[in-house]
Amino acid sequence: MTSNTSPFTITRALRGNFFDIGGIIKTPAEIEANARYLEDGMMFLDGGKIVWLGSREEGEKTLMELSYPVPLDDYRDKLLVPGFIDTHIHYPQTEMIGAYGEQLLEWLNNYTFPTEAQYHDIDYANKMSKFFVDQLLNNGTTTALVFGTVHPQSVDALFTVAAALNMRLIAGKVMMDQNAPDSVLETPEESERDTRTLIDRWHNHKRLSYALTPRFVPTSSPELLAKVRQIRQEHPDIYLQTHLCENVDEISWVKSLYPEHQGYLDVYHDYGLTGSRCVFAHCIHLHDAEWDCLHDTDSSIAFCPTSNLFLGSGLFDINTSWQKQVRLGMGTDVGAGTSFSMLQTLGEAYKVGQLQKYRLSAFEAFYHATLGGARALHLDDKIGNFEAGKEADIVVLDPSATALQQLRTGNCKTLAEKLFVLMTLGDDRNIFRTLVDGKVVYQRPD
Ligand code: GUN
Ligand code: ZN
Repeated sequence: MTSNTSPFTITRALRGNFFDIGGIIKTPAEIEANARYLEDGMMFLDGGKIVWLGSREEGEKTLMELSYPVPLDDYRDKLLVPGFIDTHIHYPQTEMIGAYGEQLLEWLNNYTFPTEAQYHDIDYANKMSKFFVDQLLNNGTTTALVFGTVHPQSVDALFTVAAALNMRLIAGKVMMDQNAPDSVLETPEESERDTRTLIDRWHNHKRLSYALTPRFVPTSSPELLAKVRQIRQEHPDIYLQTHLCENVDEISWVKSLYPEHQGYLDVYHDYGLTGSRCVFAHCIHLHDAEWDCLHDTDSSIAFCPTSNLFLGSGLFDINTSWQKQVRLGMGTDVGAGTSFSMLQTLGEAYKVGQLQKYRLSAFEAFYHATLGGARALHLDDKIGNFEAGKEADIVVLDPSATALQQLRTGNCKTLAEKLFVLMTLGDDRNIFRTLVDGKVVYQRPD
């Protein structure tokens, strides 16, 4: 389908109010200057790509001149934002979200490992993968960096569901060979073999990427870490995801297991496991040298506020992440995190800031959940905002989903206020529709 007047093919038009952030952001102050709000505008898609965004008048004129019909979705009372990006989440912990009473190490032993052991069963993994991806989409999350379990079939199941939707998803099987029950352990040789098979099968297949996933230092022997390094060297565009400096007891344990190393991050660094596309979750208790190492190696951080509060791990220092210029994305960290909702996660991030006298603005919060997350995953050339050429992963938000929200939003004078109310009162009820690859993959029930 082509037209004499339009320089691009249009397969779908969206009318509504559009909000995104452009440009290269180095300070929080630059975010507001780069925030873009288009009231009653129009967007054109060509299949899974955004091809144009502009005024409704201009858009209507273009549509009138086309020689072929184009479906038009009318979202004039809604707010369209780029699909949310979750940079840290565990799909095989969905069924144990909100487990009572423990901090990290007891929580892992008492709840997490027994739950993850169930994923040796492919039928169970298939069922939970479907449930998990539905939860992401119901919450407007269109890209995620996801932990599987030690069982390779857990990742086959998840990628199969994501591939069917042509979703941009990154995942990997957990690698762990010590300090956990046998039901979730493997040998370094098995870990290498299964990881290589999954990479061959899934990495760069459709919109999927593979992430090497050593769980954390305490469950990794030196032999295992050496194998992770070897695989990473052979696949320079592969991701790596793990945990870092989440809990003080965890850090002491790392010191006792690897006494010859300077600190926690030094173990990963020494094994070549820092650098671009390496995403470290939590990073609450970092020393100055560790911040510098994250910066110097171009590593990324996943900030997981609901998890850090729920497990009593501590308060992430947003201010220092800016000062040290470390790439930062938001993570829900389900099941230690207490919600799949990026809106709720941003609301909790604000409170983490408040406890440290850091004022997280709504613009900054939405930046971390969209373009910032894309930067943390080195995907900002593909997703994160509405620039022409980017992939059409879009959330249609209803800012007035409840009577209270309607009342409160009605009292907002600025966009910043409206966004702030959304992240304070909002959740999955505010997700009206989610589009992945230009197609509606979730529609809120009436
Ligand atoms: N550290 C090692 N494994 C985990 C996990 O599953 N969740 C969290 N929050 N921290 C971890
Ligand atoms: Zn985690």
